[in-house]
Amino acid sequence: MADVQPTPDPDLPLGTSITAAPSAVSPPPLINVADYERLAAERLDAGVLGYFAGGAGDERTLRENVAAYRRWHLRPRVLVDVSAASAATTVLGTPVSMPVLVAPVALQRLLDPQGEPATARAAAAAQTIFCLSTLATSRPAEIAARAPDCQRWFQVYCLRDRGVTRALVQEAIEGGFSALALTVDAPRGGPRERDLRTGFAVPADVDMPAVRAAVGGPSCPTPTEFFSLVDTSVTWPVLEELAGETSLPVIVKGVQTAEDARLACEHGAAAVVVSNHGGRQLDGVPATIEILPEVAEAVGGRLEVLLDGGIRRGTDVLTALALGARAVLVGRPVAWGLAVGGEDGARAVLELLREELELGLALLGCPTPQDVTRAHVARAAF
Ligand SMILES: Cc1cc2nc3c(=O)[nH]c(=O)nc-3n(C[C@H](O)[C@H](O)[C@H](O)COP(=O)(O)O)c2cc1C
Repeated sequence: MADVQPTPDPDLPLGTSITAAPSAVSPPPLINVADYERLAAERLDAGVLGYFAGGAGDERTLRENVAAYRRWHLRPRVLVDVSAASAATTVLGTPVSMPVLVAPVALQRLLDPQGEPATARAAAAAQTIFCLSTLATSRPAEIAARAPDCQRWFQVYCLRDRGVTRALVQEAIEGGFSALALTVDAPRGGPRERDLRTGFAVPADVDMPAVRAAVGGPSCPTPTEFFSLVDTSVTWPVLEELAGETSLPVIVKGVQTAEDARLACEHGAAAVVVSNHGGRQLDGVPATIEILPEVAEAVGGRLEVLLDGGIRRGTDVLTALALGARAVLVGRPVAWGLAVGGEDGARAVLELLREELELGLALLGCPTPQDVTRAHVARAAF
C-alpha cells in the first residue's frame, strides 16, 4: 500500500501537502476506504462534499448500493493451492492488475488541484483502467499528455447536437483512449437535493474544457445546464451509430434489467456496466449487486459484464465476481483518496483494494478472479 499520511492541518488547502508535519500525536493511519471517506468528509467544503457524496431524492439507492453486500455471504473452499494467488485479469482484452477499474467521475479538480490527470496517473501506477468523464475538468488530450501510460476509456453522453458528441469522441480517439462508455441512465440529471440545500455551484475557475470546446459557446455550461444538451430521444440504434463511427468498443453504462442487457447484446455493445450512477439518478432502484445475477444470466457470456456502485471492500469485489461480473468500477472511493492525498491518495485507495482482494481470493480458495464462481456466495438467511 502506498504510504499516505493525511495532512495534519485540516485548514490547509486540499492537495497542498501529504507529508505529516512534526507532531506529538501521529494522525491515525488510513487503512480502508471508510478511513479515506471519513477524512475527506472532514476536509471538503460542505457543497463539494454534498456533490460527491450525495445521491438522488431520499438516497435510498445510494445507501442500498453499499448495504446490499451484507445480504451475501462468501463460501470459502479450503485446501486449494493459492500459493500463486493473484488478482490480475483482463478486461476487454486489456491486462489489469485487478478487476477494479476507475469509474468516470465529473469535476475532479474540486477535490485536488491536479484533478483527473492525478487520478489517471494513480490508475496507471496501480495498473488498472481509468475512465474519463465527459464532465471532466481536463480534456482527453491533457490526460494523454500528462498520464501517457494510463490505459484509458472515455465516457460519452449522446447529445442532441451530434457534432458536439463527435468532436468529443474524436478528441478521445486522438488521445489514445481505447473504449467508449456510453452512459444511458441519465437522459436528465437526477434530483440531487444535497446540492439544492448547500447551494452548490461549480466555482468560476473550474470548468469542463472538453464540453466548452465542443459546444463552442462563449462560456461553459454548468453540469445542470449540460444535461439540457443530452438527447432524450435516443434509442438503441444509437449504439450501432456510435460503434459505426469509431473503431472503438462501445460499453453501455447504466444497464439495470435483463431486458436491456439483451438489447445491448443485440445492438453491438462490447460490454455492459450494471450501474445506477452511484444512486444519483432514479432513486428507489435496487442495489446494483441485486441486479447483477439477472443481467449476467441474460447476457449468457456474449459480452463482459461489469458493475459499479457501493464497492468499498475487496470482499465486495469477490461477491460481484461470484455473481457474474468480469470486473467492477469504483467512483467515490478513488474520489476520497484524491481529496485526502492527491495522486498518492488515489493510488493508495486502489492499492488497498487490490491487497484486500488478493487476500480475499486466497482465503476464498480462488487463485485467480476467474476461479470465483456462483458457488462461492450464498444469500444470507436474514
Ligand atoms: C460525484 C460523481 C460524479 C459522477 N460523474 C459521472 C459522470 O460524469 N459520468 C458518468 O457516467 N458517471 C458519473 N458518476 C457515476 C460513476 O461513474 C459511478 O457509476 C458511481 O460513482 C459508482 O458508485 P460508487 O461511487 O459507489 O463507486 C459520478 C459519480 C459521482 C459520485
